[in-house]
Amino acid sequence: MTVTPTAFLGTAFHAPTRGKIEVLEGALIETGADGRVVRVTPEDVPEHAARVKTASDAGRLSRLAPTQVLIPGLVDLHIHAPQFPQLGKNLHLPLYDWLQKCTFPLEARYADLAFAENIYRQLVETLLANGTTTAVYFATVHLPASVALAKTCLDLGQRAYVGRVAMDNPDQCPEFYRDASTEDGLALTRDHIAQVRALPGNGGFVQPVVTPRFIPSCTDKMLDGLGRIAADTKAIVQTHCSESDWQHGYVLDRYGKSDTQALAGFGLMERHTVLAHANFISTSDMGTIKRQGAGIAHCPLSNYYFSNAVFPLRRALDFGLNVGLGTDISGGHSPSIIDNARQAIASSRALEEGVDPGLSAKDRGRPGTRIDFREAFWLSTRGGAEVLGLDAGVFRAGAAFDAVLIDLAAPGSNVRAFDGLDSHEDVLEKIVSTATQANVRAVWVEGRKVSA
Ligand code: GUN
Ligand code: FE
Repeated sequence: MTVTPTAFLGTAFHAPTRGKIEVLEGALIETGADGRVVRVTPEDVPEHAARVKTASDAGRLSRLAPTQVLIPGLVDLHIHAPQFPQLGKNLHLPLYDWLQKCTFPLEARYADLAFAENIYRQLVETLLANGTTTAVYFATVHLPASVALAKTCLDLGQRAYVGRVAMDNPDQCPEFYRDASTEDGLALTRDHIAQVRALPGNGGFVQPVVTPRFIPSCTDKMLDGLGRIAADTKAIVQTHCSESDWQHGYVLDRYGKSDTQALAGFGLMERHTVLAHANFISTSDMGTIKRQGAGIAHCPLSNYYFSNAVFPLRRALDFGLNVGLGTDISGGHSPSIIDNARQAIASSRALEEGVDPGLSAKDRGRPGTRIDFREAFWLSTRGGAEVLGLDAGVFRAGAAFDAVLIDLAAPGSNVRAFDGLDSHEDVLEKIVSTATQANVRAVWVEGRKVSA
């Protein structure tokens, strides 16, 4: 697919390195027909004026208004697409009951392909409108609906990773919602991988993912078979890991080892494996995750409802783990990665300072565990891209031009910048803290405008 080369002139923010914001003030960002950044010309280099003129003469120049800035596209590493109708409700139950009573009955409805297609289209449109340019999805056990989700992403231009969910354990999965047998689930996983790869016009833009729901849902034979499929097909893996006390404890009881170690034993902890949550990982688990090149989808809103604890984000980052953010629709109540970025900051503060006023300040929290908006912004963009091994999430030559145009003056904006009071970094902090969908004026994925 080719796109129209464009030259964007204005201010952009990005975070090529964790914790450091780069402001590209008045920069010229030129994109090519392949949807990649051709070059970035800062305002203060001598060629800037000539390049702006060339782009203008060629009719390719797109000038940002003074109230607009570009940021890299947002990466959502963990979404349950079929749970979109449940977004914002049923948040009162613990994880096990929520799955059995609310979530599995909803997911079972995706046996109906027309139902699935309708909801998946609304979901992908909503995510794009919020600036999510790369999305990692769990679908359901159903093959046609799972392939339809991949096709929807392809049609609407969202880079996506889509998994058909494998779950065959009759002790944990109800009869109305599980794979008919282990063999059947493995065969459907292989078919899903083949069908997603063969979608007309795909060429790797939307990729299949090997997706054991989580260890409790799967038999050993299924987990072993899925590990072999991942190795054979080179598809990446996604699953839930040590999310709650119950899940973490279930795996310890079943194997006498942690989720991380058990997954690794089945060949399900590989390069670019996406582990949702990972709240209860030990230092030795962190060593395994790092060695294997896997990454973590931190889902701070979801964790408040279902995890019983705050993910030790600071420790994971300092350990050198790959981490990005996930909405975990519908475990979290928002489809927005920016909402999750601000929650990641707030959660890290809750962990640092503690939350129980009945304890003395010195016993209440875990000192030194906060992150700030710089790290939250990096997690939302470059951090997520690194988990997946994507050359995206930054504005530099060769990277995919995935971008979100934020307009501070959009109708309904809560972001206010004050001349003489706010630095560029202040403006970015305000965007992370207060931007909503109202501020998202346009979205590009690999140079293609996908929402406006
Ligand atoms: N663990 C297994 N399935 C799920 C799910 O759908 N959501 C969450 N948050 N955790 C899970
Ligand atoms: Fe989840």
